Amino acid sequence: MALKIKSIRGTRDVTPAESYKWQYVERVALEVARTYGIEELRTPTIEKTELFVRSVGETTDVVQKEMYTFDKGRESITLRPEGTAGTVRAVVETGLLAESLPVKVCYVIPCFRHENPQAGRLREFHQFGIESFGGSSPTADAEVIGVANDIFRRLGLNGLELRINSIGCPECRPVYNKALVAYYESHYTELCETCKERLRKNPLRLLDCKVESCARLTKDAPIILDHLCGDCAVHFEGLKQRLQVTEIPFVVDPYIVRGLDYYTKTVFEFVTDQIGAQGTVCGGGRYDLLTEYMGGPSTPALGFAMGLERLLMVMESAGCAFPDRPKCDLWLGSMGDTENIKALELAAKLRAEGFYVLCDTMGRSVKAQMKYANKIGARYSCIIGGDELEKGAVTVKDMDTGEGESIPLTADGVKAFLYSHMLDPDSYRLGE
Ligand code: HAM
Repeated sequence: MALKIKSIRGTRDVTPAESYKWQYVERVALEVARTYGIEELRTPTIEKTELFVRSVGETTDVVQKEMYTFDKGRESITLRPEGTAGTVRAVVETGLLAESLPVKVCYVIPCFRHENPQAGRLREFHQFGIESFGGSSPTADAEVIGVANDIFRRLGLNGLELRINSIGCPECRPVYNKALVAYYESHYTELCETCKERLRKNPLRLLDCKVESCARLTKDAPIILDHLCGDCAVHFEGLKQRLQVTEIPFVVDPYIVRGLDYYTKTVFEFVTDQIGAQGTVCGGGRYDLLTEYMGGPSTPALGFAMGLERLLMVMESAGCAFPDRPKCDLWLGSMGDTENIKALELAAKLRAEGFYVLCDTMGRSVKAQMKYANKIGARYSCIIGGDELEKGAVTVKDMDTGEGESIPLTADGVKAFLYSHMLDPDSYRLGE
């Protein structure tokens, strides 16, 4: 008996009606990255579970609740919930970091988190991210933030707000944590159960709690910016100055703490109120200690990742322009088998030139072929019959105006027509 199996909750199919938009966004992101000397690094979708436990952090929601983990043989394996951990592992393992610094890489990857699905929150989602290794100066921070900002600008997305914060370093964070713990302990009974736990394990995460009674406490909590050590404070001031000179608007938000444990100093997010509760389109920050902690050379680093589903949602809601979905340049209709073979031969030669050309593969009548050509919005069409083959000429019809023009029925003849009536095929490919 036939059985229709449905997709898994929190996963999505991207049909051709959308996939050309994804291709466009990814192309723009990779193209902007190129202007910063950032090249793509591809890493596996599966990694040892230990990699994420150690880097993302044992007390985080991602590690505690959201990882897709399974055992194969004696190894515990996890579908990556994010891209930074695998990138750090790979740049150490492949020896990239041993080459001259900085090393700057980017990725377009599927990630997996077992979260409660809702708009903008999926179990399989996609990230474009960059990671920059070597630079400890705030110029590296401004550059990384500049990449994200340039991508949004190139996509015509101007309404995102950049929020920045510093969460300090091992010198100043413990001092701040003490102040934070003292404050929340004095309000212990008002805390949710999770926050009572966080108070012991990871006090910074209390600032992020969405439960109303906890969120109310946050506004009077001590803020880390008042507790930064000299080095972290200078770094943060340096970043603000660089964002100003590069004309990247920002707000300082002392409550941004991020949900992953590896961050030090700068953290940032690009947010919107246009797509509901899941409004963080991009998040990132510095992780100066992670590479050494993961067995590599001590290397300051930072990066970001943007969620592509959320990015596309916000682009749609902001009415951003997308390139047109590719349209058929020429429909090569045919009346019989010999003519259909001629159409196929011409199509092959025109495609080699970059044109989008179709001929009938369904054995349809001429009438049905033309109906189809119309439906898919072909720009030009012609019908090859016995007469056309004999005379070596065919009439090409403009599908909008209905006007026809007789041209030689040869690859060169059709090519010359297409070149003189349309742009160079290179210039109207996706994303141009
Ligand atoms: P993250 O904030 O966990 O950071 O994720 C980055 C972005 O991925 C989010 O801002 C959001 O747009 C998207 N995202 C996260 N979870 C989901 C989900 N369940 N469904 C849809 N989109 C989601 C990181 O992953 C860090 N690795 C970023 C980074 C790179 N920090 C330094 N380098």
